[in-house]
Amino acid sequence: MKNAYFLLALAIAVLYTSCQSPENELDNRVESLLKQMTLEEKVGQMTQITLDVIGNGETVFSSGYPFELDTARLRKALVDYHVGSILNTTNNYAMTPEQWYTIISQIQEVATTQTRMKIPVIYGVDAIHGVTYTDGAIMFPQQLTVAASFNPVHAYNMGVVTAYETRASGIPWNFSPVLDLGADPRYSRIYESFGEDPYLIGAMGVQLVKGYEGMNADSLSSPVKVASCVKHFLGYSVPVSGKDRTPAYIPDHILREYHLEPFKKAIEAGASTLMVNSGLINGVTVHASHDIITKLLKEELGFEGLVVSDWNDIINLHTRDKIAVDNREAVKLAINAGVDMSMVPYHYEDFFNDLVALVKEGEVKESRIDDAVRRILKVKLRLGLFETPVTKYTDYPGFGSEKSARMAYEAAADAITLLKNQDSILPLTANLKVLVTGPNAHSMRTLNGGWSYSWQGEKTGQYTEEFNTFLEAIRLKTAHVTYIPGVSYINDGKYFEEQEDQFAEAVAAARRADRVLLFVGENSYTEKPGDLNDLTLSPLQTRLAQELIKTGKPVILVLNQGRPRTIAAIEPGVKAVINTYLPGNYGGDALADILYGVVNPSGKLPFNYPSYPNSIVNYYHKPSEEQNPAAGAYNYESDYNPQYEFGDGLSYTTFHYSNLKASASSFGAKDELEISVDVTNTGTRAGKESVLLFSSDLYASISPDVKRLRRFEKISLNPGETQTVRFRLRAGDLAFVNTSNQWVTEPGDFEFTAGDQKIKVTYKN
Ligand code: BGC
Repeated sequence: MKNAYFLLALAIAVLYTSCQSPENELDNRVESLLKQMTLEEKVGQMTQITLDVIGNGETVFSSGYPFELDTARLRKALVDYHVGSILNTTNNYAMTPEQWYTIISQIQEVATTQTRMKIPVIYGVDAIHGVTYTDGAIMFPQQLTVAASFNPVHAYNMGVVTAYETRASGIPWNFSPVLDLGADPRYSRIYESFGEDPYLIGAMGVQLVKGYEGMNADSLSSPVKVASCVKHFLGYSVPVSGKDRTPAYIPDHILREYHLEPFKKAIEAGASTLMVNSGLINGVTVHASHDIITKLLKEELGFEGLVVSDWNDIINLHTRDKIAVDNREAVKLAINAGVDMSMVPYHYEDFFNDLVALVKEGEVKESRIDDAVRRILKVKLRLGLFETPVTKYTDYPGFGSEKSARMAYEAAADAITLLKNQDSILPLTANLKVLVTGPNAHSMRTLNGGWSYSWQGEKTGQYTEEFNTFLEAIRLKTAHVTYIPGVSYINDGKYFEEQEDQFAEAVAAARRADRVLLFVGENSYTEKPGDLNDLTLSPLQTRLAQELIKTGKPVILVLNQGRPRTIAAIEPGVKAVINTYLPGNYGGDALADILYGVVNPSGKLPFNYPSYPNSIVNYYHKPSEEQNPAAGAYNYESDYNPQYEFGDGLSYTTFHYSNLKASASSFGAKDELEISVDVTNTGTRAGKESVLLFSSDLYASISPDVKRLRRFEKISLNPGETQTVRFRLRAGDLAFVNTSNQWVTEPGDFEFTAGDQKIKVTYKN
């Protein structure tokens, strides 16, 4: 009898093992590794260093490249301190895929043959619009530009191409996408976001994550996919001062309704890692917030992936925010708050020694360490790093391909936004004599912005010889070009430093031209160095515009900038305005195609473009912010007065909206509502139109937003063609978060708008 039981148990065990899901198998591998690891080996896995720590840079070595790994320092980090992760490039240079391969394979060689556990390193970079630090990689437009296309296919394409090329560079982990709410135009990183609307950010973010990671849980093991890293959790992008890494104050219900939603969607779509907000919200440094990292993220949202700190942000709890008396206390706070990996990135010995000591003394539980290491090992296993620690560039013939370049071009062409076109001054014809002027006319650096071949983007010119600046692309369209900068940036200075550069000559040349193409905006920047004191377009560029306008020649203002520098002083004097945002390496070609009518513009603003620095209001503001004055009274300049609104964007054709209909005049909690609208191309050119559906909750227990984007779809229409666009919604799609932090859809009337059409529908609980 005993024997029979034994056999039965054995059969069940065999059956159980053979039926195990890949997920179970993965867990088993993680547990078996974890069991064999010492505390020191575990803490090493939680340690991330920057490449410079293990190399010698800034001298040209026999390889011809200004960097060489230092074998002693490499061994010290990986063998003595068990370091499990490395990030970044070296000395702020872009390298070729071959150089990347050489470095990363040396690192993995040490990790997988000379360490006891033989666990491969996970290498990470910021490949935020293409592989920033890889020479020859396809550079897409920046995220904010992609958002302006209102076409999530471009976010997906950017993810697919970037994942492939990151792997072609031997790197499996990408610190992207940015899912922060781009609600403050003063902020230096708004161009890294998908704009100010949570629904748009979510829709774009999900597609970018899918492009990076693949469509399902096991696609990460594919050698053309990378682990994404959604960042910066949570509430990073809206500091009160507008300056990077300064305090933000965000009520919980706002945090949940606007800031959390995009992260939630990306996590549901499978994002495998996440980076913590480097700043403070509501007085609390996020890296020390157990409430945000553990309770909200890991417990409430059920995030099972790896949580990495931002650069230097654990020690910052001591040195910057003064909430820890020393490094040790900082480490204790952050690890106990739920951070799994510290982007140290320099003094890793301190992080390592302090964390080991904290565990030994019982101040950090070993179970917390195990939780962190499980998450890290899982990502490494999912990525297939144990089988293939480094992917090789020769296996990626599609790196820098024509097909990928075309995708980057399409994204730019679909995003560039025509904001004004008085007297149909655009498109231009090739016979017109044009003056090309302004500091942004002839610069690959300004087309790409920050995170391009270097952190601040200042080295872009060294890598982009083969691409066209605006000027070069225009020269391919017409022989009648005069170029005089008028103003130019001081490229080895701060990003905002500029100077007169043949100013008077530019104005004189305008008098001889038929059209003036004025390219203004900003030089490249990111993070702290990109902080700004005045959102107005610089005085010198404004003066150039004013002088050009005075000539009486039609001025076409082309904006090339990471954030909306205000132009109220010059806008009335120009005939046309086009925002190119940061359109990437193919942005020059895309703009020239739009200017000369090869492409019909179809981008729309993914944020409100303010008229004045003191009138910054999002499109989803409260009714009180409109101030709707009684006739004649209080009719002053500070009424709701954006220069251009979220969703604005013109075409060379015209679209007519009609027949906005709802499938029912009232609906309940369980019903699906269909809203449809007919859109007709009433002009003479084919064109694309992003159809945006907004809802307004007419009365609510907290003052409702005047409107909110609920759905969008981009369609193509031939002249005379009509399409019916259908959107499906449920009550939950119209909900808001109340002051008790609950999502609610309150019974009452909702107004839907699309184009100039409006319809009212009643929600009955
Ligand atoms: C930025 C992150 C970035 C990290 C690594 C930080 O300074 O805030 O967005 O991923 O550096 O380069």
